[in-house]
Amino acid sequence: MPKVIAITNQKGGVGKSTITRELSAMCALRGYKVLTIDCDPQGSLTASWLDPEQCEPNLVHCLITPETARKGAPGKLLPLTAAIFETPIERLDLVGADVRLARFEREPASAVHRLRQQIAGHTTDYDLVLLDCAPSLGDLLHAALFAADYALIPCAALHMSLEGLTELVYTIGEVRHVNKNLQILGSIINLYKPRRLGAQEARRAVEEISHLVGPIFNVNLHDFAEVADAHTRKRPVVAFAGSSKAAEQLSLITDEFLTRLELPLSIEIIEQGSSESGEVIAQAVGKGAEQPFQRTKT
Ligand SMILES: Nc1ncnc2c1ncn2[C@@H]1O[C@H](COP(=O)(O)OP(=O)(O)OP(=O)(O)O)[C@@H](O)[C@H]1O
Ligand SMILES: [Mg+2]
Repeated sequence: MPKVIAITNQKGGVGKSTITRELSAMCALRGYKVLTIDCDPQGSLTASWLDPEQCEPNLVHCLITPETARKGAPGKLLPLTAAIFETPIERLDLVGADVRLARFEREPASAVHRLRQQIAGHTTDYDLVLLDCAPSLGDLLHAALFAADYALIPCAALHMSLEGLTELVYTIGEVRHVNKNLQILGSIINLYKPRRLGAQEARRAVEEISHLVGPIFNVNLHDFAEVADAHTRKRPVVAFAGSSKAAEQLSLITDEFLTRLELPLSIEIIEQGSSESGEVIAQAVGKGAEQPFQRTKT
């Protein structure tokens, strides 16, 4: 079964979609098979890889009862597999979202378990599933947290971005009564400007509440033009600015992310046997390398 990580903070614009995109691409390039699910009606993660109309059906069709059902006809949810699309990065797939996902808040209370059921039933081929959450504390966030093993909390290096974090932590605590697996993986300080006094204060402020938001990642992600440009280029930083400082920081953050998940830093893919059997042996490299990985090529 994959490890499922919800990237969440109800504060908007702190880098949830950015960190989901960059971490998932880094992990895929290191040999992991990764699925990202856009759980935000804004669809920013979707738009950072593909044109939204290119990935229809999307999460809307997997979580929200079709209109016909409400009128009495048998409307069915699609299986998640029907909404999985390849991104330009090998081994990285996407389930997209669009504004209609906001209707999820009007579904019956039991719908909050649908994402968990979809992930449990349809993602066994993946090593990692990353959920890009919306900036809210509503039913979509609950659905993501019910499905997740870990919550990762990006925080912008501004004092104001920490407002409301206690509410998020309270929500995580509530969900834990039902999803006992859910742990906080930690928080990442984003949009860091080392020369700004306020940024250093913001890191210190997060450190003060690290008993709530989990240990802070050692490396802060600075405010880089390359990171901002990646969305428009529809490519991860490492693909167009591989030797930049931004790529270096993202790589170090990926190291820490995988280490906290107790996974090897990379997986070497070795194709073996006849191409007909299509067998792929994926060998762990680096820390935790004793962990066996074996997949069948699809
Ligand atoms: N480290 C960074 N350097 C430069 N720009 C960044 C960085 N991180 C995020 N951004 C930019 O900040 C903006 C907000 O980032 P992003 O969309 O990832 O935040 P978010 O938390 O997902 O927002 P929302 O809550 O609206 O979903 C985007 O324009 C993004 O390109
Ligand atoms: Mg976002």
